[in-house]
Amino acid sequence: MLFSDSVIKNRKLKSSKALDAVLREGEVVLVHSGGPIGKPGGLDQTYEFLPHPDYYWLTGFRREGGVSAYSKSHSWVDFTRPVSRVEKIWEGGGHPCPGENIEKMEDWLKKENFKSKYHIGQHTESLGTNPHKDERQILEAFNEVRRIKDDAEIQLIRKIAGIANEGYKKISSYIRPGVTERQIQIEYESEVLRAGSEKMPYGSIVGTGTNGAILHASPSSRIVKDGDLVLIDAGADIEDYCVDITRVFAANKTMNERQRKIYETVVSAQTKSIELCRPGIEWSEVHLASAREIAKGLMDLKILSCSVDEALESGAISVFFPHGVGHMVGLKVRDVGGPFNPNPKSYAGAKLRVDIKLKAGHLMTVEPGCYFIETLMNDPETRSTFKNQIKWSEAEKWLDFGGVRIEDDIHVGTSGPENLTGLVAK
Ligand code: GLY
Ligand code: MN
Ligand code: MN
Repeated sequence: MLFSDSVIKNRKLKSSKALDAVLREGEVVLVHSGGPIGKPGGLDQTYEFLPHPDYYWLTGFRREGGVSAYSKSHSWVDFTRPVSRVEKIWEGGGHPCPGENIEKMEDWLKKENFKSKYHIGQHTESLGTNPHKDERQILEAFNEVRRIKDDAEIQLIRKIAGIANEGYKKISSYIRPGVTERQIQIEYESEVLRAGSEKMPYGSIVGTGTNGAILHASPSSRIVKDGDLVLIDAGADIEDYCVDITRVFAANKTMNERQRKIYETVVSAQTKSIELCRPGIEWSEVHLASAREIAKGLMDLKILSCSVDEALESGAISVFFPHGVGHMVGLKVRDVGGPFNPNPKSYAGAKLRVDIKLKAGHLMTVEPGCYFIETLMNDPETRSTFKNQIKWSEAEKWLDFGGVRIEDDIHVGTSGPENLTGLVAK
Protein backbone atom coordinates (compact mmCIF):
# COMPACT_ATOMS: atom_id res chain seq x y z
CA MET A 1 0.00 0.00 0.00
CA LEU A 2 1.25 3.44 -0.97
CA PHE A 3 -0.29 5.18 2.06
CA SER A 4 0.39 4.07 5.64
CA ASP A 5 -2.31 2.82 8.02
CA SER A 6 -2.10 6.03 10.02
CA VAL A 7 -2.71 8.19 6.90
CA ILE A 8 -5.79 6.13 6.01
CA LYS A 9 -7.01 6.19 9.61
CA ASN A 10 -6.74 9.97 9.64
CA ARG A 11 -8.64 10.30 6.33
CA LYS A 12 -11.46 8.13 7.70
CA LEU A 13 -11.58 10.17 10.86
CA LYS A 14 -11.78 13.50 9.00
CA SER A 15 -14.43 12.11 6.64
CA SER A 16 -16.55 10.73 9.45
CA LYS A 17 -16.60 14.14 11.14
CA ALA A 18 -17.73 15.77 7.90
CA LEU A 19 -20.36 13.10 7.24
CA ASP A 20 -21.69 13.29 10.80
CA ALA A 21 -22.73 16.86 10.05
CA VAL A 22 -24.96 15.84 7.11
CA LEU A 23 -26.05 12.33 8.05
CA ARG A 24 -28.94 11.35 10.31
CA GLU A 25 -29.08 8.41 12.72
CA GLY A 26 -29.95 5.18 10.93
CA GLU A 27 -28.52 6.28 7.57
CA VAL A 28 -25.54 4.81 5.75
CA VAL A 29 -23.09 6.09 3.13
CA LEU A 30 -21.62 3.49 0.78
CA VAL A 31 -18.38 4.44 -0.96
CA HIS A 32 -17.91 2.19 -3.99
CA SER A 33 -14.71 1.18 -5.74
CA GLY A 34 -16.52 0.26 -8.98
CA GLY A 35 -15.72 -2.46 -11.47
CA PRO A 36 -13.88 -2.87 -14.75
CA ILE A 37 -15.60 -1.78 -17.96
CA GLY A 38 -15.71 -4.37 -20.73
CA LYS A 39 -14.33 -3.48 -24.14
CA PRO A 40 -17.08 -3.55 -26.80
CA GLY A 41 -16.78 -6.86 -28.62
CA GLY A 42 -13.72 -7.66 -26.55
CA LEU A 43 -14.94 -10.96 -25.02
CA ASP A 44 -13.11 -11.20 -21.67
CA GLN A 45 -11.09 -7.99 -22.23
CA THR A 46 -11.71 -4.92 -20.10
CA TYR A 47 -10.31 -1.41 -20.01
CA GLU A 48 -7.69 -0.99 -17.32
CA PHE A 49 -9.52 -0.88 -14.00
CA LEU A 50 -9.00 2.29 -11.96
CA PRO A 51 -10.70 2.44 -8.57
CA HIS A 52 -13.00 5.40 -8.07
CA PRO A 53 -10.86 8.14 -6.48
CA ASP A 54 -13.31 8.63 -3.59
CA TYR A 55 -12.85 4.97 -2.63
CA TYR A 56 -9.12 4.80 -3.27
CA TRP A 57 -8.44 7.99 -1.30
CA LEU A 58 -10.46 6.71 1.64
CA THR A 59 -9.21 3.13 1.84
CA GLY A 60 -5.90 3.04 -0.04
CA PHE A 61 -7.29 -0.08 -1.78
CA ARG A 62 -7.14 -0.37 -5.54
CA ARG A 63 -9.26 -3.47 -5.82
CA GLU A 64 -12.52 -3.63 -7.77
CA GLY A 65 -15.87 -4.41 -6.17
CA GLY A 66 -15.10 -3.00 -2.73
CA VAL A 67 -17.39 -0.86 -0.60
CA SER A 68 -16.57 1.15 2.49
CA ALA A 69 -19.70 1.82 4.55
CA TYR A 70 -20.12 4.66 7.05
CA SER A 71 -22.86 5.03 9.62
CA LYS A 72 -22.96 6.85 12.93
CA SER A 73 -23.54 3.57 14.77
CA HIS A 74 -20.74 1.53 13.15
CA SER A 75 -18.28 4.15 11.87
CA TRP A 76 -16.41 2.71 8.82
CA VAL A 77 -16.84 -0.93 7.78
CA ASP A 78 -14.85 -2.21 4.78
CA PHE A 79 -16.35 -4.84 2.50
CA THR A 80 -13.88 -6.23 -0.03
CA ARG A 81 -13.83 -8.92 -2.68
CA PRO A 82 -11.52 -11.80 -1.73
CA VAL A 83 -9.00 -12.78 -4.39
CA SER A 84 -10.27 -15.88 -6.19
CA ARG A 85 -8.22 -18.92 -7.13
CA VAL A 86 -8.68 -18.07 -10.84
CA GLU A 87 -7.39 -14.53 -10.25
CA LYS A 88 -4.36 -15.88 -8.40
CA ILE A 89 -3.56 -18.15 -11.34
CA TRP A 90 -4.03 -15.53 -14.08
CA GLU A 91 -3.10 -12.32 -12.34
CA GLY A 92 -1.08 -13.23 -9.27
CA GLY A 93 -3.49 -11.97 -6.64
CA GLY A 94 -2.31 -8.40 -6.02
CA HIS A 95 -2.26 -6.69 -2.66
CA PRO A 96 -4.54 -8.04 0.08
CA CYS A 97 -7.44 -5.75 0.97
CA PRO A 98 -8.64 -6.64 4.46
CA GLY A 99 -12.33 -6.39 5.26
CA GLU A 100 -15.56 -8.34 5.43
CA ASN A 101 -16.42 -10.39 2.34
CA ILE A 102 -18.45 -8.15 0.00
CA GLU A 103 -20.94 -11.01 -0.38
CA LYS A 104 -22.03 -10.40 3.21
CA MET A 105 -22.87 -6.74 2.62
CA GLU A 106 -26.46 -7.19 1.42
CA ASP A 107 -27.34 -9.24 4.53
CA TRP A 108 -25.61 -6.71 6.77
CA LEU A 109 -27.56 -3.83 5.21
CA LYS A 110 -30.83 -5.76 5.65
CA LYS A 111 -30.00 -6.62 9.26
CA GLU A 112 -29.15 -3.02 10.11
CA ASN A 113 -32.32 -1.86 8.33
CA PHE A 114 -30.90 1.58 7.42
CA LYS A 115 -33.54 4.22 6.68
CA SER A 116 -31.57 5.68 3.76
CA LYS A 117 -28.56 4.60 1.75
CA TYR A 118 -26.38 7.15 -0.02
CA HIS A 119 -23.84 6.23 -2.64
CA ILE A 120 -20.46 7.78 -3.42
CA GLY A 121 -17.92 6.57 -5.94
CA GLN A 122 -18.67 4.29 -8.85
CA HIS A 123 -21.99 2.80 -7.97
CA THR A 124 -23.09 0.65 -10.89
CA GLU A 125 -26.81 1.45 -10.59
CA SER A 126 -26.33 5.21 -10.75
CA LEU A 127 -23.29 5.12 -13.04
CA GLY A 128 -23.13 8.19 -15.23
CA THR A 129 -25.98 10.06 -13.57
CA ASN A 130 -25.86 13.01 -11.25
CA PRO A 131 -26.60 12.11 -7.65
CA HIS A 132 -29.96 13.20 -6.25
CA LYS A 133 -30.13 16.22 -3.96
CA ASP A 134 -29.43 14.51 -0.63
CA GLU A 135 -26.69 12.40 -2.11
CA ARG A 136 -25.09 15.52 -3.57
CA GLN A 137 -24.96 17.04 -0.10
CA ILE A 138 -23.23 13.91 1.24
CA LEU A 139 -20.77 13.91 -1.66
CA GLU A 140 -20.02 17.59 -1.20
CA ALA A 141 -19.25 17.09 2.52
CA PHE A 142 -16.89 14.27 1.57
CA ASN A 143 -15.26 16.24 -1.28
CA GLU A 144 -14.69 19.19 1.01
CA VAL A 145 -12.43 16.93 3.09
CA ARG A 146 -10.78 15.36 0.06
CA ARG A 147 -9.91 18.79 -1.37
CA ILE A 148 -7.49 19.47 1.48
CA LYS A 149 -4.40 17.48 0.59
CA ASP A 150 -2.62 15.71 3.45
CA ASP A 151 1.16 15.63 3.88
CA ALA A 152 1.43 12.16 2.37
CA GLU A 153 -0.31 13.37 -0.80
CA ILE A 154 1.90 16.45 -1.09
CA GLN A 155 5.03 14.33 -0.63
CA LEU A 156 3.84 11.98 -3.35
CA ILE A 157 3.11 14.85 -5.74
CA ARG A 158 6.65 16.18 -5.13
CA LYS A 159 8.05 12.79 -6.07
CA ILE A 160 5.91 12.66 -9.23
CA ALA A 161 7.07 16.18 -10.15
CA GLY A 162 10.66 14.89 -9.96
CA ILE A 163 9.73 12.10 -12.36
CA ALA A 164 8.11 14.52 -14.82
CA ASN A 165 11.20 16.70 -14.59
CA GLU A 166 13.26 13.84 -16.05
CA GLY A 167 10.97 13.86 -19.08
CA TYR A 168 11.21 17.63 -19.51
CA LYS A 169 15.00 17.55 -19.20
CA LYS A 170 15.09 14.87 -21.88
CA ILE A 171 12.98 16.75 -24.39
CA SER A 172 14.60 20.11 -23.77
CA SER A 173 17.75 18.74 -25.39
CA TYR A 174 15.85 16.62 -27.94
CA ILE A 175 13.60 19.28 -29.49
CA ARG A 176 15.04 20.67 -32.73
CA PRO A 177 13.89 21.33 -36.30
CA GLY A 178 13.26 18.02 -38.08
CA VAL A 179 11.73 15.97 -35.25
CA THR A 180 7.99 15.27 -35.16
CA GLU A 181 5.42 15.92 -32.45
CA ARG A 182 5.00 12.16 -32.09
CA GLN A 183 8.76 11.68 -31.60
CA ILE A 184 8.77 14.35 -28.88
CA GLN A 185 5.88 12.56 -27.17
CA ILE A 186 7.75 9.23 -27.33
CA GLU A 187 10.95 10.76 -25.89
CA TYR A 188 9.01 12.37 -23.04
CA GLU A 189 6.82 9.41 -22.19
CA SER A 190 9.56 6.78 -22.37
CA GLU A 191 11.75 8.88 -20.08
CA VAL A 192 9.07 9.41 -17.42
CA LEU A 193 8.08 5.74 -17.53
CA ARG A 194 11.74 4.83 -17.02
CA ALA A 195 11.92 7.30 -14.13
CA GLY A 196 8.96 5.69 -12.30
CA SER A 197 5.71 6.96 -13.78
CA GLU A 198 3.14 4.13 -14.02
CA LYS A 199 1.22 5.66 -16.90
CA MET A 200 0.36 9.03 -18.40
CA PRO A 201 -2.28 10.88 -16.35
CA TYR A 202 -3.89 12.27 -19.54
CA GLY A 203 -3.14 12.22 -23.24
CA SER A 204 0.12 14.12 -23.63
CA ILE A 205 -0.30 17.31 -25.62
CA VAL A 206 2.36 18.36 -28.11
CA GLY A 207 1.63 21.37 -30.31
CA THR A 208 4.32 22.71 -32.62
CA GLY A 209 4.02 25.91 -34.64
CA THR A 210 0.37 26.79 -35.28
CA ASN A 211 -0.69 23.56 -33.50
CA GLY A 212 0.33 25.33 -30.29
CA ALA A 213 -2.98 27.20 -30.64
CA ILE A 214 -4.95 23.93 -30.36
CA LEU A 215 -5.63 23.76 -26.64
CA HIS A 216 -5.53 19.96 -26.42
CA ALA A 217 -3.40 19.15 -29.48
CA SER A 218 -2.83 15.43 -30.02
CA PRO A 219 0.76 14.76 -31.07
CA SER A 220 0.81 14.40 -34.87
CA SER A 221 3.40 13.63 -37.52
CA ARG A 222 3.98 17.37 -38.03
CA ILE A 223 7.69 18.09 -38.29
CA VAL A 224 9.15 20.90 -36.15
CA LYS A 225 10.22 23.75 -38.42
CA ASP A 226 12.95 26.31 -38.02
CA GLY A 227 11.71 29.07 -35.72
CA ASP A 228 8.74 27.10 -34.30
CA LEU A 229 7.62 27.19 -30.72
CA VAL A 230 6.88 23.76 -29.24
CA LEU A 231 4.22 23.49 -26.53
CA ILE A 232 4.17 20.33 -24.43
CA ASP A 233 1.56 19.67 -21.75
CA ALA A 234 2.33 16.32 -20.15
CA GLY A 235 2.56 14.81 -16.69
CA ALA A 236 3.48 11.71 -14.74
CA ASP A 237 1.41 9.40 -12.54
CA ILE A 238 1.63 7.03 -9.59
CA GLU A 239 -1.58 5.24 -8.59
CA ASP A 240 -3.66 7.99 -10.27
CA TYR A 241 -1.88 10.78 -8.37
CA CYS A 242 -0.36 13.07 -10.94
CA VAL A 243 1.17 16.33 -11.99
CA ASP A 244 -0.08 18.46 -14.88
CA ILE A 245 2.68 20.60 -16.39
CA THR A 246 3.05 22.72 -19.53
CA ARG A 247 6.24 24.15 -20.95
CA VAL A 248 7.12 25.87 -24.22
CA PHE A 249 10.44 25.46 -26.02
CA ALA A 250 11.97 27.25 -28.99
CA ALA A 251 12.94 24.84 -31.78
CA ASN A 252 16.16 26.83 -32.29
CA LYS A 253 16.83 27.26 -28.56
CA THR A 254 16.35 31.04 -28.69
CA MET A 255 13.04 32.79 -29.16
CA ASN A 256 12.57 35.63 -31.61
CA GLU A 257 11.29 38.98 -30.36
CA ARG A 258 7.60 38.24 -30.95
CA GLN A 259 7.85 34.88 -29.25
CA ARG A 260 9.73 36.33 -26.29
CA LYS A 261 7.12 39.04 -25.81
CA ILE A 262 4.21 36.58 -25.63
CA TYR A 263 6.24 34.12 -23.56
CA GLU A 264 7.23 36.77 -21.03
CA THR A 265 3.66 38.04 -20.86
CA VAL A 266 2.42 34.54 -19.99
CA VAL A 267 5.22 34.01 -17.44
CA SER A 268 4.31 37.29 -15.83
CA ALA A 269 0.60 36.37 -15.81
CA GLN A 270 1.42 33.07 -14.17
CA THR A 271 3.67 34.72 -11.55
CA LYS A 272 0.90 37.20 -10.65
CA SER A 273 -1.70 34.44 -10.39
CA ILE A 274 0.52 32.10 -8.35
CA GLU A 275 1.23 34.90 -5.90
CA LEU A 276 -2.52 35.09 -5.21
CA CYS A 277 -2.87 31.40 -4.37
CA ARG A 278 -3.43 31.95 -0.67
CA PRO A 279 -6.18 30.92 1.75
CA GLY A 280 -9.30 33.11 1.44
CA ILE A 281 -8.76 34.26 -2.16
CA GLU A 282 -11.51 33.63 -4.72
CA TRP A 283 -10.30 31.46 -7.59
CA SER A 284 -11.92 33.91 -10.01
CA GLU A 285 -9.46 36.56 -8.75
CA VAL A 286 -6.59 34.25 -9.67
CA HIS A 287 -8.08 33.98 -13.16
CA LEU A 288 -8.61 37.72 -13.51
CA ALA A 289 -5.00 38.46 -12.49
CA SER A 290 -3.77 36.44 -15.46
CA ALA A 291 -6.37 37.93 -17.79
CA ARG A 292 -5.25 41.41 -16.78
CA GLU A 293 -1.58 40.67 -17.42
CA ILE A 294 -2.25 39.12 -20.81
CA ALA A 295 -4.42 42.10 -21.74
CA LYS A 296 -1.54 44.44 -20.83
CA GLY A 297 0.84 42.48 -23.06
CA LEU A 298 -1.59 42.57 -25.97
CA MET A 299 -2.10 46.30 -25.51
CA ASP A 300 1.67 46.84 -25.78
CA LEU A 301 1.56 44.93 -29.04
CA LYS A 302 -1.35 47.11 -30.24
CA ILE A 303 -3.49 44.02 -30.70
CA LEU A 304 -5.93 45.36 -28.14
CA SER A 305 -7.15 48.87 -28.78
CA CYS A 306 -9.03 49.33 -25.50
CA SER A 307 -8.15 49.62 -21.82
CA VAL A 308 -7.28 46.57 -19.73
CA ASP A 309 -10.54 46.96 -17.80
CA GLU A 310 -12.57 47.04 -20.99
CA ALA A 311 -10.73 44.00 -22.39
CA LEU A 312 -11.79 42.06 -19.29
CA GLU A 313 -15.31 43.48 -18.91
CA SER A 314 -16.22 42.98 -22.57
CA GLY A 315 -14.63 39.51 -22.64
CA ALA A 316 -12.38 40.51 -25.58
CA ILE A 317 -9.39 39.03 -23.77
CA SER A 318 -11.01 35.58 -24.00
CA VAL A 319 -10.32 35.56 -27.75
CA PHE A 320 -6.66 35.09 -26.76
CA PHE A 321 -7.10 33.49 -23.31
CA PRO A 322 -10.24 31.42 -23.77
CA HIS A 323 -9.96 28.96 -20.87
CA GLY A 324 -9.99 29.10 -17.08
CA VAL A 325 -6.67 29.71 -15.36
CA GLY A 326 -6.59 26.24 -13.85
CA HIS A 327 -8.27 23.47 -11.94
CA MET A 328 -7.81 21.27 -8.93
CA VAL A 329 -5.24 18.53 -9.47
CA GLY A 330 -3.73 15.72 -7.42
CA LEU A 331 -5.73 12.49 -7.38
CA LYS A 332 -6.32 12.53 -11.16
CA VAL A 333 -5.83 15.47 -13.44
CA ARG A 334 -9.24 16.91 -12.56
CA ASP A 335 -9.53 16.54 -8.84
CA VAL A 336 -12.64 17.51 -6.84
CA GLY A 337 -12.61 21.06 -8.11
CA GLY A 338 -15.79 22.51 -6.77
CA PRO A 339 -19.40 21.90 -5.87
CA PHE A 340 -21.71 20.63 -8.62
CA ASN A 341 -21.82 23.59 -10.96
CA PRO A 342 -23.98 23.08 -14.06
CA ASN A 343 -24.00 26.78 -15.01
CA PRO A 344 -20.49 28.12 -14.56
CA LYS A 345 -20.15 31.89 -14.40
CA SER A 346 -18.01 33.77 -16.90
CA TYR A 347 -15.08 35.89 -15.80
CA ALA A 348 -13.34 38.00 -18.45
CA GLY A 349 -15.23 35.94 -21.03
CA ALA A 350 -14.09 32.50 -19.79
CA LYS A 351 -16.44 30.06 -18.06
CA LEU A 352 -14.92 28.94 -14.73
CA ARG A 353 -16.07 25.48 -13.72
CA VAL A 354 -13.91 25.88 -10.62
CA ASP A 355 -15.34 28.86 -8.75
CA ILE A 356 -14.36 28.45 -5.12
CA LYS A 357 -12.55 30.27 -2.35
CA LEU A 358 -9.05 28.85 -1.83
CA LYS A 359 -8.22 27.08 1.41
CA ALA A 360 -4.90 25.97 2.84
CA GLY A 361 -4.20 22.51 1.47
CA HIS A 362 -5.80 23.00 -1.94
CA LEU A 363 -3.71 21.97 -4.93
CA MET A 364 -4.40 23.95 -8.10
CA THR A 365 -2.90 24.15 -11.55
CA VAL A 366 -2.10 27.70 -12.63
CA GLU A 367 -1.95 27.67 -16.41
CA PRO A 368 -2.53 30.95 -18.21
CA GLY A 369 -2.11 30.94 -21.95
CA CYS A 370 -2.10 33.29 -24.90
CA TYR A 371 -3.08 31.82 -28.26
CA PHE A 372 -3.91 32.99 -31.75
CA ILE A 373 -6.71 30.59 -32.62
CA GLU A 374 -7.88 30.76 -36.21
CA THR A 375 -11.38 29.46 -35.45
CA LEU A 376 -11.96 32.33 -33.04
CA MET A 377 -10.06 35.05 -34.87
CA ASN A 378 -11.65 34.43 -38.27
CA ASP A 379 -15.16 34.14 -36.91
CA PRO A 380 -17.22 37.07 -38.28
CA GLU A 381 -19.32 37.20 -35.11
CA THR A 382 -16.22 37.48 -32.87
CA ARG A 383 -14.83 40.17 -35.16
CA SER A 384 -18.00 42.18 -34.97
CA THR A 385 -18.55 41.67 -31.20
CA PHE A 386 -15.07 42.97 -30.41
CA LYS A 387 -14.64 45.48 -33.22
CA ASN A 388 -13.99 48.26 -30.70
CA GLN A 389 -11.64 46.31 -28.46
CA ILE A 390 -9.44 44.35 -30.87
CA LYS A 391 -7.45 45.87 -33.69
CA TRP A 392 -8.10 43.07 -36.14
CA SER A 393 -5.63 44.33 -38.77
CA GLU A 394 -2.87 43.91 -36.16
CA ALA A 395 -4.24 40.71 -34.62
CA GLU A 396 -4.33 38.85 -37.91
CA LYS A 397 -0.59 39.33 -38.36
CA TRP A 398 -0.23 36.79 -35.54
CA LEU A 399 -2.27 33.99 -37.10
CA ASP A 400 0.92 32.03 -37.85
CA PHE A 401 2.12 32.22 -34.23
CA GLY A 402 0.49 29.31 -32.42
CA GLY A 403 0.29 29.77 -28.67
CA VAL A 404 2.00 29.77 -25.31
CA ARG A 405 0.74 28.19 -22.10
CA ILE A 406 2.72 27.67 -18.92
CA GLU A 407 1.36 25.40 -16.24
CA ASP A 408 2.47 24.50 -12.73
CA ASP A 409 0.83 22.79 -9.77
CA ILE A 410 0.51 25.07 -6.77
CA HIS A 411 -0.05 24.01 -3.19
CA VAL A 412 -1.98 26.66 -1.29
CA GLY A 413 0.10 26.71 1.89
CA THR A 414 -0.87 28.44 5.12
CA SER A 415 2.08 30.78 4.69
CA GLY A 416 1.81 31.22 0.93
CA PRO A 417 1.86 29.46 -2.40
CA GLU A 418 4.26 26.60 -2.98
CA ASN A 419 5.04 25.60 -6.57
CA LEU A 420 5.37 21.80 -6.48
CA THR A 421 6.38 21.59 -10.14
CA GLY A 422 8.67 24.63 -10.14
CA LEU A 423 11.73 22.41 -10.51
CA VAL A 424 10.85 21.92 -14.19
CA ALA A 425 12.89 24.61 -15.94
CA LYS A 426 11.11 27.43 -17.78
N1 GLY B 1 -3.49 18.74 -19.31
C1 GLY B 1 -4.70 19.33 -19.68
C2 GLY B 1 -4.97 20.48 -18.83
O1 GLY B 1 -4.09 21.24 -18.55
O2 GLY B 1 -6.02 20.69 -18.35
MN1 MN C 1 -4.26 21.57 -16.45
MN1 MN D 1 -2.10 20.58 -18.64
